[in-house]
Amino acid sequence: MGITICAVTPTFAAEVGDVDLSRLSEADLAEVKAAFWKYALLIFPDQDLAPEQHLAFAERFGPIEADRVLDQATASSRLDSKFADISNLDAQGEIWEAASRQRMYKAGNRLWHTDSSFKFRPGLCSLLYARTVAPVGGHTEFADQRAAYDALPDAMKEKLRGLVAEHSIATSRRRSGFTNFTTEEAGRLPPVPQALVRTIPQSGRKSLYVASHAGRIFGMPEEKGGALIDQLIAHVSQRQFVYTHRWRARDLVMWDNRCTMHRGTEYDDLRWVRDMRRATVSDVANSCEQEGIALPA
Ligand code: OGA
Ligand code: MN
Repeated sequence: MGITICAVTPTFAAEVGDVDLSRLSEADLAEVKAAFWKYALLIFPDQDLAPEQHLAFAERFGPIEADRVLDQATASSRLDSKFADISNLDAQGEIWEAASRQRMYKAGNRLWHTDSSFKFRPGLCSLLYARTVAPVGGHTEFADQRAAYDALPDAMKEKLRGLVAEHSIATSRRRSGFTNFTTEEAGRLPPVPQALVRTIPQSGRKSLYVASHAGRIFGMPEEKGGALIDQLIAHVSQRQFVYTHRWRARDLVMWDNRCTMHRGTEYDDLRWVRDMRRATVSDVANSCEQEGIALPA
């Protein structure tokens, strides 16, 4: 019996059943990939994945990012550096303290964003696996930036053509109230250019590419560019473009960072354990390079 694909909407998000990601045949992988390029977000319930199996599945989509944002001194050493620790646990596996630096930093995940757009070569896709879920809250919302692009008036599409935004982790963290990057951290993460509209090669679909990491638009007055980014994020996050994932333990959810945004929702993180780990696959090149747009000086 082959895998089953059950679409959440005709073009965004699908649940994949009758599949074991730890032993996926080439034929099944081809089906998973075809579904991924179509739906941009796939849910695989009931997976039993050791860390190596999770990484091995991610690697079938490309190289995994291993560079972390925060210095090792703060970063959790619970996990291999190829994982982003999306939990509320400290290095000892205990629920973090209210004032912990990790907690302050990760509050930024509750803003609409796409993973690693603040890196010159951004994230292609992310694969997030839930080990323990919170009994109340802690959902993840996903928005389809392709459908949001399609719904723009023609005049807006024309206005956005060729524009480049500046993305920086410092921008999104400033928005969520985290400003104490160390000199080393800040030096590792200079702002980078990303195309505001991109074409996804595998589907041919155009997509917006906005996130809370984006702060200004090259060639526009700072305030005007910032206002346009805010307006676009508000547009993309309208409910007709959004799917909310309510986690069950052992779900693996993967999304295309090139054409979706996501954000975590609140839960009582000083009370409940929420233990998830994420592998992030790098894109093939900077988005401007892929669009054939000259990098701003
Ligand atoms: C992520 C992320 C949000 C959440 O894993 O990249 O932003 O719900 N997660 O924890
Ligand atoms: Mn994220």
